[in-house]
Amino acid sequence: MLEVIGLSKSFKKKGEYTQIVENASFSVGDNEAVGIVGPSGCGKSTIARIICGTIRKDSGDIIFDGEKVILDSGRYNTEMRKKIQLIGQQPFLSLDGRQKIGSAIAEPMLRHKIAPRGECYKRASELLEKVWLDKEVMNMYPHQLSGGMCQRVIIARALGLNPKLLIADESTSMLDTSSQAQVIRLLHRLKQDGVSILFISHDMELVKVFSDRVLRMENHNLINITTEKGEKQNEKKNNFATCSCDGAGTDSLGLHKAGL
Ligand SMILES: Nc1ncnc2c1ncn2[C@@H]1O[C@H](COP(=O)(O)OP(=O)(O)O)[C@@H](O)[C@H]1O
Ligand SMILES: [Mg+2]
Repeated sequence: MLEVIGLSKSFKKKGEYTQIVENASFSVGDNEAVGIVGPSGCGKSTIARIICGTIRKDSGDIIFDGEKVILDSGRYNTEMRKKIQLIGQQPFLSLDGRQKIGSAIAEPMLRHKIAPRGECYKRASELLEKVWLDKEVMNMYPHQLSGGMCQRVIIARALGLNPKLLIADESTSMLDTSSQAQVIRLLHRLKQDGVSILFISHDMELVKVFSDRVLRMENHNLINITTEKGEKQNEKKNNFATCSCDGAGTDSLGLHKAGL
């Protein structure tokens, strides 16, 4: 479904270019949860932002369902704005404090002309239920909600566009333990419903619990890849290492992969 081929990106820092992502290649299959893990600052969000079109790549190709995500002209393929949705780290910052939750969830559906106004609001209310929030939340403002509730609102808003891929970039790292567990369970449920998930985190245990397959970004320059069996492969071709993810790991949330 998603194929990233030879993606590279450098940023100018103090007058010099620093390579942040170097020749990264990976894929996310239909109905698959793929994890990317790596220390803070290694370039994980840079990859997410390029896939979502908020920053430009230097080189490489990104293909989604057989179509180029970034067109040859350098423009972002607008079709992808519905198909690929990003769930970030700070839900409060993604919501307008003066806008009611119902309106926040309906807005992208209205913008993309998914349905007439009344229907978008009806769907917004259904989506709240889908993320395990009461319908009453429709009329509330972000400050009346906890961080975990806000994050579930962000997920509901993304779901309004029927995305095929959710990129969860550290989307539980600002939450307390129980909210974190709830968001993880919700993402797992969405995966069961057929959504693919690229799960990005600095927390190896969490990534292992959640993902079918884990890629480790060792640092933006380190080039090394291993298969699930731990064999080195394609050295100098990729800056990810694939770790086995047999689900045996448990994270601090007590979530077992089997049952979550
Ligand atoms: N727009 C930018 N301009 C310059 N440097 C950036 C920019 N965005 C990210 N960086 C740098 O790129 C590196 C990787 O950042 P990021 O992708 O956010 O890492 P991660 O998500 O793995 O923590 C960091 O050193 C960061 O400072
Ligand atoms: Mg990041």
